Amino acid sequence: MGAGEERRILVTGAMGQIGLELIDALIAKFGSDNIIATDIREPENDYDFNFEKLDVLNKQNFEQIIVQNKINQVYHLAAILSATGEKNPELCWKINMDGLLNVLELSRKYKFRIFAPSSIAVFGPDVGKIALQSSPQNPTTMYGVTKSAGEQIAEYYHSVHGVDIRGLRYPGLISWKVLPGGGTTDYAVEIFHKATASQNYTCFVSEETRLPMMYMDDAIKATMQIMDVPSEKLSIRGGYNLPSLNFSALELYEKIKQKLPNFNCQFVPDHRQEYADSWPDQTDGSIAESEWGFQLDYDLDSLCSIMIASLQK
Ligand code: NAD
Ligand code: SER
Repeated sequence: MGAGEERRILVTGAMGQIGLELIDALIAKFGSDNIIATDIREPENDYDFNFEKLDVLNKQNFEQIIVQNKINQVYHLAAILSATGEKNPELCWKINMDGLLNVLELSRKYKFRIFAPSSIAVFGPDVGKIALQSSPQNPTTMYGVTKSAGEQIAEYYHSVHGVDIRGLRYPGLISWKVLPGGGTTDYAVEIFHKATASQNYTCFVSEETRLPMMYMDDAIKATMQIMDVPSEKLSIRGGYNLPSLNFSALELYEKIKQKLPNFNCQFVPDHRQEYADSWPDQTDGSIAESEWGFQLDYDLDSLCSIMIASLQK
């Protein structure tokens, strides 16, 4: 899309944890007339945005919506996350890969800009504690396999077919508006819902589990920011590592307990521990910081304060 051209934006998977927050941010910046939220499922509550039902595997319908609405940017969020993906690896591959391929092919034809998120799940147990941008990608979940392959296919479509695709390796995202959709990092959201409802929480990973995390507002900021960077300034198309917060599940509990002293949490790891153990503790986001100036606004303390205050409202 050319400089100054009006944005006509479509979001896939828009009813999920990220989508509903991104829609608000996009509407605030570009106006509701220019944003179309799509998902395979209908909005659950009353809503005040344009919505179209769209299964990203239905390429014909996808194309129709793109053309009818003169779309020039797609935020492609439809996906199956890690825990659900391990239960149904075939579905995970199909939606994450075929869905992405459909967007890429449509962009090749209609020249729209794409945002397609990757994840810390591209990394596997050989990475160790800190994942660099260039750390090896040997994921041990199907979700991670699709995200790693997704990065490669993004680089291919960019370099060979000139598709303007941009990606971020989101860490686990912590937010209060929408519950997360079947990932391994969901414990870091669920714990706040229980704590603010005066209930105890049984955490499904061990006390010492440490994963890269981020408050949703920082993720939305990074998403909006990378879509505005001039194309020639981006050296990576598959997914930029982002700087992230680094705390254990126990440290998260202790921080919440400082603010809500009656809250109790016990740690009873289940099958998701294995996925968590295969991911790094921390990410090095220095390329995103130096190339397009990304910085975190929230640390663990401010994240906990805003999560608790928002859920208590
Ligand atoms: P989510 O599970 O909350 O939402 C995904 C949405 O996709 C859901 O609303 C679902 O109905 C929809 N969907 C599923 N299959 C579909 C299909 N065939 N057609 C259309 N829609 C379909 O996920 P999210 O957390 O909002 O994640 C969005 C993107 O960000 C995904 O690519 C995910 O891998 C990535 N990501 C998320 C996190 C996180 O912590 N939330 C971290 C890393 C990467
Ligand atoms: N939050 C995601 C998950 O746990 C990470 O990509 O699946």
